[in-house]
Order: sequence, then structure tokens, then C-alpha cells
Amino acid sequence: MNRTRRLRTTGGIRSLVRENQLKIDDLIYPIFIEEGKGIKKEIESMPGIFRFSLDILPEELDAVKELGIRAIILFGIPDSKDEIGSETWNDQGIIQKSIRFIKKHYPELYVITDVCFCEYTSHGHCGIIHNNDVDNDATLKNLSKQAISHARAGADMVAPSGMMDGMIRTLRESLDKEGFYQLPIMSYAVKYSSSYYGPFRDAADSAPSFGDRRTYQMDPANRREAFREADFDKEEGADILMVKPALSYLDIIRDLRNNYNIPIACYNVSGEYAMIKAAGEKGWIDEQKVMMESLLSMKRAGADLIITYFAKEVARLLREQQ
Ligand code: PBG
Ligand code: ZN
Repeated sequence: MNRTRRLRTTGGIRSLVRENQLKIDDLIYPIFIEEGKGIKKEIESMPGIFRFSLDILPEELDAVKELGIRAIILFGIPDSKDEIGSETWNDQGIIQKSIRFIKKHYPELYVITDVCFCEYTSHGHCGIIHNNDVDNDATLKNLSKQAISHARAGADMVAPSGMMDGMIRTLRESLDKEGFYQLPIMSYAVKYSSSYYGPFRDAADSAPSFGDRRTYQMDPANRREAFREADFDKEEGADILMVKPALSYLDIIRDLRNNYNIPIACYNVSGEYAMIKAAGEKGWIDEQKVMMESLLSMKRAGADLIITYFAKEVARLLREQQ
């Protein structure tokens, strides 16, 4: 008789035959940095996640370093916004200052920057508005300025998240022209227009003031279209393809894993984090176990890298288990 239970009898044999594993090295931790001083403000819908000003940031970076997390992705909250998000390419902007600070004091940390406009535009959209919609090609020009400014400040990788057509080609060409041909691009290639981004938009102060993002982010109903997005971005020179959100899109992660030979990342987004935190606080689920199970499912679906607000907690847990 076939007996699958033979290989489940003890922890020893279960770990020998375990197919997937979460590692600290797979995780990227998002950090929100706000212009100002003395700021450490918890985000209401994301318990345990804070906005920091640069002077308090070492507190967070020390913890990150101590836990063995190697990669972070930065989001900036500027002092002032305008119609086009011009603060994004200010060499004295919040992200640029932060990169220089981090690379100076924590040189071993791998610093990724989110490249977009929604935190910096007065209307909260991911680019320049013409006729009530984001103007794709006008936005591309400014995207280059932003990415080059991040690169000059010392970013290790840029991650454009605005879902503009041609954004990878534009960035690759302009980065190369400036001599940054070694700087990798992680594309938010398959980014859905998702309601799971709610808490992030509070955190980053980036909710659109009119309309929504459905003219540039993908329709959650679509699967075939994910291949077109991924095809174009790979062809245009993306080094890593990302699927976002993660948990409701595990099928898409698997599709990409099966069809592309470059690393696949996924973004375990704010709403996924908030749901587990909220149910955990109520005592309705075992928060740590559900956290580990959902992150493991992303690995099993085929993700090589996971961007997650849980990174510190996972690192702590993995260390205890050793
Ligand atoms: C900005 C951006 C968003 C997220 C990452 N970069 C929000 C959005 O598209 O509205 C979402 C991250 C999260 O929900 O954790 N383009
Ligand atoms: Zn955006």
C-alpha cells in the first residue's frame, strides 16, 4: 500500500523531505522615512511598522542589522508635494539624503528604492496628470530623473512601481547613459490594482485624491495579461520581475516562475500584513504561525525574493528555531 504518512512520522524525517524553506536572505524589509526630526510614528493599520525621520532611523537600522536582514526598500514622505512630484529628483530629497546616510553608516545593507511619484504628487497619482489621467510618456522623462538621482546618491537597486509602459526601457537606457550600467532594475512588472494597498496609502500618504489607479495598474481578473507585462519588462531589460500583491496572486507567481529564468519577487503588501495582525490581536488566529505559513506559500509558489513588513519578526523567529 502507498503510505505517504511514513515520511511524516517525526520532525527529523519531515525536515529531511521538506521541499521549501524561508530564509532571512530572501527577505526585503520596507522602511518609511519622513522629512523632519524626532519622528517615530506607528502606522495605525500596520502595528509594528513606523514612519521614521532620518535622525531616529538608526534605531530601526540597528535592529535590522542585528537581526541579519540584508536588504531594505525605501519609501519617502516629503515635506512638500506638487503637481508633478518634482521633489523625487531633488538631490537633497528625503530618499537621496537617506541613501547617503545609510550607505555611509550601514554600508553592508543592500538599499533598494521604490521609484514612483504617488507620495510626491499633490493629486496622489503615479505620474503627470493630463485630461484626468496619468500621461504615460510625459511621466517617463521624470522617472529617469528620479532613478538617476537615486543612483547618484548610492542606491544599490531601483524598483519602478508606477506601471507605466516602457518604464524599464527608459530607465535602462538613461541609467546606462549615466554610467550606471551595473545597477539592477527590479520591475514591479505585474502589479494589480488592488484594495490590499489601503494601509500603505495611509503609511505613505499616497492615496489618489480623485479616481483610482485602474488605468495603469492591472485588473485583478486577468492572468494572460500578466505574461504580456512580464514579457515586455524582461525584453526591456528588467533584472528581476515582481508580482504584487502576493497572497491573492500565488497563481501568477507560479506562472512567472515557470516561464522566466530570471529571479521572481513578490510583494507581501500592507493589507495582507494588516489582516494577519488584526486577527492575531483579536486572538482569532496564531499570528506567528499564519505569518510563516503565508510567507512559505509564496516560496512554494515560486518566489525567490519576498518584500515583507514581517521581515524582522521572521528573522527573530528563524533565529530562535536554530
Ligand atoms: C507606489 C506603491 C504602492 C505600494 C508600493 N509602491 C501603492 C500603490 O500602488 O498605491 C503598495 C505597498 C503595500 O501596499 O504594501 N506605487
Ligand atoms: Zn505610485
